[in-house]
Amino acid sequence: MIMEMIEMPKNFLWGCASAAYQVEGAYQEDGKGLTNWDQFVRIKDKTFKDTTGDVAVDHYHRYKEDIALMAELGLKTYRFSVSWARIFPEGRGAVNEKGLQFYENLVDECLKYGIEPMVTLYHWDIPAALDTAYGGWEDRQIVDDYAAYAKCLFKRLGRKVKYWITFNEQNIFTTFGWLLAAHPPGKFDAQKMFYQVNHHVNMAHAKAVLAFKQIVPDGKIGASFAFSPSYAFDCDPKNVIAKINFDEMNSFWWMDIYAYGRYPAFTWNYLDKKGLVPEMEADDKTILLAAAAKLDFMGINYYQSIVCEYNPLHGGVDPYGTMNTAGKKGTTEIKGVPGLYKNPPNPYLMTTDWDWTIDASGLRYACREVTSRYHLPIVISENGLGAFDILEDGKIHDGYRIDYLREHVLALEEAVQDGCDIISYCVWSFTDLLSWLNGYQKRYGLVYVDREEPEGSSMNRYKKDSFYWYKKVISSNGKHL
Ligand code: NOJ
Repeated sequence: MIMEMIEMPKNFLWGCASAAYQVEGAYQEDGKGLTNWDQFVRIKDKTFKDTTGDVAVDHYHRYKEDIALMAELGLKTYRFSVSWARIFPEGRGAVNEKGLQFYENLVDECLKYGIEPMVTLYHWDIPAALDTAYGGWEDRQIVDDYAAYAKCLFKRLGRKVKYWITFNEQNIFTTFGWLLAAHPPGKFDAQKMFYQVNHHVNMAHAKAVLAFKQIVPDGKIGASFAFSPSYAFDCDPKNVIAKINFDEMNSFWWMDIYAYGRYPAFTWNYLDKKGLVPEMEADDKTILLAAAAKLDFMGINYYQSIVCEYNPLHGGVDPYGTMNTAGKKGTTEIKGVPGLYKNPPNPYLMTTDWDWTIDASGLRYACREVTSRYHLPIVISENGLGAFDILEDGKIHDGYRIDYLREHVLALEEAVQDGCDIISYCVWSFTDLLSWLNGYQKRYGLVYVDREEPEGSSMNRYKKDSFYWYKKVISSNGKHL
């Protein structure tokens, strides 16, 4: 069905997103404590050319310049994350006023231009002191420490910030941290701990949601999930079962906990059989249910879809799914279970320079699936294209990014016409920023930053062609693509 470009709902929040570690820099300034990422990037060969976020794109010092550019773009919302270690350098205990002040200044600067701030509480950087004290997410103590951190921010910023996100991509940081050894704490195939860590994150999320409703009753809170909707390889029933296995093991169990406070039956049964059920306290289930009933929206970070095929032989269960077993670039295999699924490439779709499938229809599909399963408003909290960009005479002709974004915004509009309640769309990212493992070569921004390793680049900002394109999209509320 070919649909027409439509004007999006009134007050639609056209946005851009970032994360503290990827943009701020100033990693030791104004009393900030070190984080897991400050430490992890110092281990040789963990990141491209051993790049760090020590300086990143210097947003900490240049936020006024960046927000002025956002205002020029006409942005309605700016999604950014708070670095926990700026607020609690030791992770708990004494509050660092300078850290709080920085984020309040950032919020005020947004509000000055009528830009709605959207705050993510956790985008992967945990205070290193908590890792040292008790192993961070591996220990139950983290739940109350996170809740205390969240409450501190709700109290300080709750009157000014309406939209909050508890966690960014819980599925990614736990999978990469405890199964694939690609992110801190760099553990490989630690399955039992992976589910325990996820339970702690779920409880931290739930306690934060419940506290939020007490402290900021008029605010809106959700979590951002990296959702890769899946397609069965074909209509062979085995492959269709492989698809639903994938969905329940990779997507729905996380989102079901946010929205329903419980695991899907298949996942629970699987964990039970494998002895992977996490330890829980007596009232955990009640707390999860209570928090789920109060969730205001589902945040979806959408980058790609996945193909699922029956896996007859060996391993290949990859809880993320993009690191497939079909021998594609970047393959990481972990031990798996015969029969659940494997993820071959999609022959109908192209891929990005980093081998991520490009599938705009997958965004519509994701919105439809989330709508029919959860009946919640949706925030597309990230979507964008990572590419090599070239700066020439102060210009960046990123037509490829415009094509990518245009198709995705069109799919978003189709999802709205289908009946999905989508309240925001955030392009990842506003400026170029540190790509966790890929340094500054993989760029996502609408604004180019003259920044490469080593340090010492000018940090000047240049508007890319995609900036001017998105400006028109926003000013026409989605009519001009
Ligand atoms: C999602 C993550 O939230 C973000 O931090 C990352 O840079 C983008 N994906 C692109 O990989």
